[in-house]
Amino acid sequence: MTRATIAGLGTAVGHRVVTNHDLAESLDTSDEWIVERTGIHERRIGGSCLELGAQAARLALNEADVDAADLDLIICATCTPDQVFPAVANRVQQELGAVCGAFDLNAACSGFTYAVTLAQSQIAAGMERVLVVGVDTLSRFTDWEDRTTAILFGDGAGAVVMTAAQNEDRGVLSTFMGSEGRFADLLVCDFGDYIRMDGKEVFRQAVRVMVAASRRVLEDAGLEASDVSVVIPHQANLRIIESAMKRLGVAQDRAATVLEVTGNTSSASIPLAMNAAREKGAISDDDIVLLVGFGAGMSVAAALLRWGQ
Ligand code: UT7
Repeated sequence: MTRATIAGLGTAVGHRVVTNHDLAESLDTSDEWIVERTGIHERRIGGSCLELGAQAARLALNEADVDAADLDLIICATCTPDQVFPAVANRVQQELGAVCGAFDLNAACSGFTYAVTLAQSQIAAGMERVLVVGVDTLSRFTDWEDRTTAILFGDGAGAVVMTAAQNEDRGVLSTFMGSEGRFADLLVCDFGDYIRMDGKEVFRQAVRVMVAASRRVLEDAGLEASDVSVVIPHQANLRIIESAMKRLGVAQDRAATVLEVTGNTSSASIPLAMNAAREKGAISDDDIVLLVGFGAGMSVAAALLRWGQ
C-alpha cells in the first residue's frame, strides 16, 4: 500500500499575545493557578480561519515545493469555521489558487488527525498531493468572563502537505478514528453560545481514550510504546498529556508540547506541537512519531508515522 508522508509543514498563530497575567486582571484567577493546573503561560488570539489557515498552508506548500495548482485535495479540519458555509477549505483553495476538491471536517480537537487519516487513504487510492489544514479560532466562542474556560483556549493553524512516501518504510503506518457519542454533552458549543464543558470529566475520559487509541495504532503497526520516539498529543492540558504518557509507558520528555505559549488551539494544536518539536530538533528521519488527539464528541484519533520522505 502506498503510504502518505509529510512533505511540508507550516503554522500560524493569532497576532495578539494574551498572558495569564493579562487574564488575571479581569478574572478571579492567577498565573500560578493556570500554570499549575494546565501548563499554559500564554495564548495567541486573532485572525480568521481563512487568514490563519491560508498562512499556514502557504508555508507548508513552500516547504514541500508543491505548487497549489498541483494539489489534488484540500481537507480543512475545523470546528470554528468563519461561516456556516461555504467551508473554510473552499476559501483557502481560492486564496492559494488551487483547483482541486476542498471540504471541511469537524471532529473537534481530533480533527487534524482525522484529516491525516483521510489524506492517507486518498493517497493510497492514487492521489499525489493532499493539503491538510488544522485551524481553529476558539477565542470567538470563548466566554472571556468564565475563568473555567477562558484560560484554556487560543487561535492558530497548522498545515501539512502529504505526498506518497518515496521510501516505502516511511509515512503513515497505522491510523485509528474513534467516537464515544455517549460523552457528547461533556463539551458543547451551541449556536449563539460559548464553549461549555465539564472539565474534570473531559480530563478523565481524555486520558483513557488517548491511551486506548495510541495502543491500538501501535498494535496495528506491530510496534511497542518503547519504539515511539516522539508523541505529538493534542495540546489541551499538560497534566492530561503527562497522565497519558505515564499510562502509555513513554517517557515524558518524548511528548511534544507547545501549549505553554499557544493554549489549546483545537484542530491546530498537533501541527503546532509538531512544528515546535521539529524546531527543537526532536524529530529525525525514521523516528516513529505518534499523533493522538481527543476532543468534543467525544472524538479521538491516532496516527503512527515513520518520519521522512
Ligand atoms: O480540547 C479539550 C478541551 N477541554 C479540556 O481539555 C478540559 C480538560 N480539563 C481541564 O483541563 C481541567 O479540568 C481544568 C483546567 C479545566 C480545571 O482544572 P481542575 O484541576 O480540574 O480544577 P477544578 O475544575 O477541579 O477546580 C478546582 C478549583 C475549583 O474551586 P473549588 O470548588 O475547589 O473551590 C474551581 O472553582 O479551582 C477553581 N477554579 C479556578 N481557580 C482559579 C476553576 N478555574 C479556575 C481558575 N483560576 N481559572
